[in-house]
Amino acid sequence: MNKNEKIEALIQKRQEVMMGGGEKAIQKQKESGKLTARERIDLLLDKGTFNEYDLFIQHDARDFGMADKVLNGDGVVIGTGLVEGKPICVFAQDFTVVGGSLGYRHAMKITKIQDVAMKMKVPCIGINDSGGARIQEGVGSLAGYGDIFYRNTQASGIIPQISVILGPCAGGAVYSPALTDYVFVVDKVSKMFITGPEVIKTVLGEEISQEDLGGARVHSEITGNAHFFAHNEEECFKQIRKLLSFIPHNNIPQNDEKTSDKPEVNIDINSVVPVDPSKPYDVRDIIKAISDKSDFIEVMERFAKNIVVGFGRIGGKTVGFVANQPLYLAGVLDVDCSDKAARFIRYCDAFNIPIITLVDLPGYLPGIDQEHAGVIRHGAKILYSYSEATVPKITVILRKAYGGGYIAMSSRHLNADFVYAWPTAEIAVMGPQGAANIIFRKEISEAENPDEMRKQKVEEYKERFANPYVAAAKGYVDAVIEPAETREMLLHALLLCRNKVVVKSDKKHGIPPF
Ligand code: HXC
Repeated sequence: MNKNEKIEALIQKRQEVMMGGGEKAIQKQKESGKLTARERIDLLLDKGTFNEYDLFIQHDARDFGMADKVLNGDGVVIGTGLVEGKPICVFAQDFTVVGGSLGYRHAMKITKIQDVAMKMKVPCIGINDSGGARIQEGVGSLAGYGDIFYRNTQASGIIPQISVILGPCAGGAVYSPALTDYVFVVDKVSKMFITGPEVIKTVLGEEISQEDLGGARVHSEITGNAHFFAHNEEECFKQIRKLLSFIPHNNIPQNDEKTSDKPEVNIDINSVVPVDPSKPYDVRDIIKAISDKSDFIEVMERFAKNIVVGFGRIGGKTVGFVANQPLYLAGVLDVDCSDKAARFIRYCDAFNIPIITLVDLPGYLPGIDQEHAGVIRHGAKILYSYSEATVPKITVILRKAYGGGYIAMSSRHLNADFVYAWPTAEIAVMGPQGAANIIFRKEISEAENPDEMRKQKVEEYKERFANPYVAAAKGYVDAVIEPAETREMLLHALLLCRNKVVVKSDKKHGIPPF
């Protein structure tokens, strides 16, 4: 063959391999409402920026009729590309090739791109669509999973790792996503479970659909395994691109980022604070009234809605928001929201993202369900993660800050850098009703009109303690501020915190209440 013929042969060979499992299998993929691995990569990346590696990799399995089988790309596509001009690594499992099942070479391709991501300090995005360990390859596939899990863990906190679930993810296929930072799911497409319906039927004799067992809604609303929910694949990749625009692409501190001189906000904060202090409101409106261009991306929007976490920008710099949500359960802390917040706080800390905490909560959720679900162990995660975090921590107490909730929500006592309170703040051991009933029990029960006396004592208590000035008098609150001053105060605090120096402890790592 001459040079041109060789080039021609390469082009043809590439085209053949890029057909994955072939036309029939691609058609089946489409009929099940899914895009192909390459179409997905195209949606993720800036147009025409994908560079593929290991296209010609082949498996070397010999058992169960595998010797004669050619598996194009061994069922996974790997490469690098750009998102908004910034490099990232990506792999996408190709379900059209033996169900995207993971054999050893398939795993080697994934670990290769994980290694590139770690070496170059760029995010790694995994698009998962797989029947799990390739049964014919036995321990070879198990070894492959182990190699991937090990790298997921090593990369944790150094580069962002994002998993997209776009098909079944069965068995070992779910554990790599579970080790990554963000899991994206798509309605009716994503399925995640350890043991599939077939196994459940065999072992337990129960019939259950894949959707009910581990569909997108199950994981974004009930289990908390998924962090972002989309209605279709296009929306999902838009969400990923948006998230990548907010988060730093590695953990190397970037102190040279510009802050914009006159950042704009589209919402007037006074219009979102309710006049009646006992009325619920959507804390996301406050976040948007603080963030540049009112742009905010919420993480785990559908899970444990009593706390809101996500990213915005203040003065052009990304910040993480952690905010009690008075719209749900009055914003109490419980088992699930403690897990959600603690993980987010640790993420921000690992990637040098300042944390803004907005406080309005009546405390921890009482009851036997919560106690038995381990609210002590889970609740402790928030205390641990805030105390451990060394990034700038700025707290604004909007309204209620009672009891353990006051301490947990990035109080001065957990080493917050700045604590501000609105004049509507109520900082006390518990709410006025409960407090009056306990400390004035005798006076109330002995009064001629107990209800009237209770009312009077509640008012007395409110007057004395349900305000920010007792805490301000002790220096636990640095400034009592008008809501309209919040953004300016935060801008200034963030500017100061850019020079924050933290003396690192020499411990290897702590033992968080996992
Ligand atoms: C080899 C597999 C496979 C697997 C699917 N295929 N899973 N081949 N190993 N694990 C093949 C099928 O044989 C089929 O090949 C093709 O992929 C498409 O699969 P279908 O079953 O036709 O697709 P669908 O009806 O959509 O069902 C998808 C599915 C189902 C739900 C994923 O295939 C399934 O239940 N697979 C097995 C899941 C599983 O139990 N995996 C092992 C987990 S154990 P043909 O040639 O017919 O097109 C595990 C341990 C690791 O992962 C633990 C590490 C911690």
